[in-house]
Amino acid sequence: MEDRYGHRISYLRVSITDRCNERCAYCMPVEEQEWLPRAEVLRYEEILRVIRVGAGLGIRKVRVTGGEPLTRRDVLWFFEQLGRIGGLDDIGISTNGTLLGRPATEDGADSPTVADRLRRSGVRTANISLDTLDRETYARAAGRDFLPQALAGIEAARAAGFDAVKMNTVLMRGQNEHELWDLVDFARERDLLLRFIELMPVSTTQVLTDENFLPFGEAKKLIEFKFGPLEPLPEFRTNGPATYYRVAKTGQKLGFIGAMTNLHFCETCNKLRLTCEGKLRPCLGSHLEFDLRAVLRDPAATDDDLARFFREVVDRKPEQHEFRENYQPERRMIAIGG
Ligand code: 5AD
Ligand code: SF4
Repeated sequence: MEDRYGHRISYLRVSITDRCNERCAYCMPVEEQEWLPRAEVLRYEEILRVIRVGAGLGIRKVRVTGGEPLTRRDVLWFFEQLGRIGGLDDIGISTNGTLLGRPATEDGADSPTVADRLRRSGVRTANISLDTLDRETYARAAGRDFLPQALAGIEAARAAGFDAVKMNTVLMRGQNEHELWDLVDFARERDLLLRFIELMPVSTTQVLTDENFLPFGEAKKLIEFKFGPLEPLPEFRTNGPATYYRVAKTGQKLGFIGAMTNLHFCETCNKLRLTCEGKLRPCLGSHLEFDLRAVLRDPAATDDDLARFFREVVDRKPEQHEFRENYQPERRMIAIGG
């Protein structure tokens, strides 16, 4: 599928729940904590049908997100089914990591971990969010004292043998600015591909302010101050919008996801998003969304109708996001899935 601007759409990001066991301020502001009623959330069978139709239209990569996807009941069953869909060459998960190290069965010490089971179902990459290594900062930012669980999850992911374990760190001035060096060391020592993400104005307008925004250019300078020059790696891409650099001295690769300051950010966009209640969104930074659930739940609608709907949404994909043009978020990040 190709949109009006020549973007090849091959990547579907799928949120399977709006629920989470954490409360990150930038993702789900405290004042509203209503979860969606269960009937509004797509059933696993519905989600799998959408992905099957998408795969028939050229979707090659699926990333499962939430909320926190691993909080949804029977999620390991869902991943097993997902792994059986033909035509996909990459399945990933985005997670806060806190549940990855849990035993997947009741077999006590002999049980495989959740990470092991995901790997066995065919998940190739795990993207784990980690914004800080300081327990108090973590507890404050995530609203839960879960740093030990997140670290255990990272170890479980490493042990599970994914093709790649990536670490996503949202840059926040005054919060983790002074930890960037430690985060770089942490990732290198564990062979995690670290990507720094600029705060985006999603969820509410208070999420991104002049006080807490740390542009990636500045983070890059801070890192170069300690680690020496970062060499651009224009050829190295991982299917997403990150630009990569290599620390010349150590060879470590670092990614930067600069939706706000990188003016070429949208040029290589290959993505559609499915929200957990079945809205198809052509762009995270646009209000456009289309109600795929209505088609899914129409007993007369066929897979061809779904495919037609997909193509129409791709046709409406904007050239670029609207974050810089007084974008007023209407939806919390947790309901979109990052
Ligand atoms: N800006 C940037 N990144 C965000 N995430 C959640 N909310 C925001 C925001 N407002 C990130 C999470 C996670 C991914 C799913 O999205 O930290 O890494
Ligand atoms: Fe949960 Fe991730 Fe949102 Fe934090 S950013 S509240 S961990 S979904």
